[in-house]
Amino acid sequence: MPCPYMIADVRPSVRYAFDSRLIFIKMSERLQKIDQTLQQLGVGTSDQVSALFAEVRELFNSEEALHRKENDAANLQAFWTAWLGRKSGVLTRITENWLKPSQPEQKRNVGQELNALKSHIEAVRVEQTAAIEAAAEQTAIAREREDLSLPGVTRPLGSRHPLRQTFEEIERIFLSLGYSVVAGPEMETPYYNFEALNIPEHHPARDNMDTFYMAAPQGAAPLLLRTHTSPMQVRTMEKQQPPVRIIVPGKVYRRDNPDATHGFIFHQIEGLAVDTDITFCDFKGTVEYFVREFLGPKVKTRLRPSYFPFTEPSVEVDATCVFCGGRGCNVCKQSGWIELFGAGMVDPAVYGFVNYDAKKYSGFAFGLGVERLTQLKYNINDLQLYFQNDVRFLRQFA
Ligand code: PHE
Repeated sequence: MPCPYMIADVRPSVRYAFDSRLIFIKMSERLQKIDQTLQQLGVGTSDQVSALFAEVRELFNSEEALHRKENDAANLQAFWTAWLGRKSGVLTRITENWLKPSQPEQKRNVGQELNALKSHIEAVRVEQTAAIEAAAEQTAIAREREDLSLPGVTRPLGSRHPLRQTFEEIERIFLSLGYSVVAGPEMETPYYNFEALNIPEHHPARDNMDTFYMAAPQGAAPLLLRTHTSPMQVRTMEKQQPPVRIIVPGKVYRRDNPDATHGFIFHQIEGLAVDTDITFCDFKGTVEYFVREFLGPKVKTRLRPSYFPFTEPSVEVDATCVFCGGRGCNVCKQSGWIELFGAGMVDPAVYGFVNYDAKKYSGFAFGLGVERLTQLKYNINDLQLYFQNDVRFLRQFA
């Protein structure tokens, strides 16, 4: 005779294992019996009661094994709710439908079976939690285990950028000559960048092609990005009377398209010395001293006439070619000389803008191009290398 309370087949289907929502459907199919009373199920004898509870326990065991193997947090949660949930968990329903309505002579027996089932389920729960935790810990230990044979973390040392090194070297040379280092604004007024440097309106340096002008609000004084560090000559002389001995390292901007010899941003170091009796000899001596300190004792200098609106006389300082020693090569176009920087004696017209007595004071100024001097010193052939941050380039200056 087929057992009327036989619980449905407990073999897990594949879908069952992967869809937690199906658990409830399967559960209710198998556990329809827990919604009926023992009387309705025809269970009377204590053997029948035991068999019924054994069946439930077996179902629990197989479901638990399946979930433990799958170890999906959401499914596990659903599983325990289905069995232990206060409102409609299996144990609650057994209490409601089997225990409470059972015959007085059955009650003790059913109660004992139920308690046994409860403590079994509770014990399994404790054991399952411990097992899952232990497994997780094992995985973590395996994952975190340190491999002592791996090479250590090496932190590559950085180095100062070649331009920064040139700045520091030039600053060192002039500090040793008694100069101070000052900095000025990169955003300038046309007055300081041009007018006070004796660069009149029509001068090509004021052409829009060369200068970045800022959009100024209506009525506001126009601003520009300084095209050279020379504005700091004026700003310094406005603030202090001679003696003045300063250098001004900084960024300057010009509207140029970037290529091997041009950039819209580059660096200069301005120099200015003004005092009571500074002569052209002091100027020449200072320039020669600087060039020898920077490029080496063998290098010779020459001054070639040039023009700047704020110096008179103006010169270009040339050095014997650092690549061929003056014999003539491609870099110096066979001349044996290369141009280093512009300089000159301060034009008395500039003193007029800063309230210096042009009869009493004299001085000289120079404007060093940091990129150019670095290029000559290290034989770098492309200006863009400075700005590309390629470690293969930068590493060579470590
Ligand atoms: N300011 C000039 C330039 O940028 C260089 C210079 C500075 C020339 C000081 C003479 C004296 O081209």
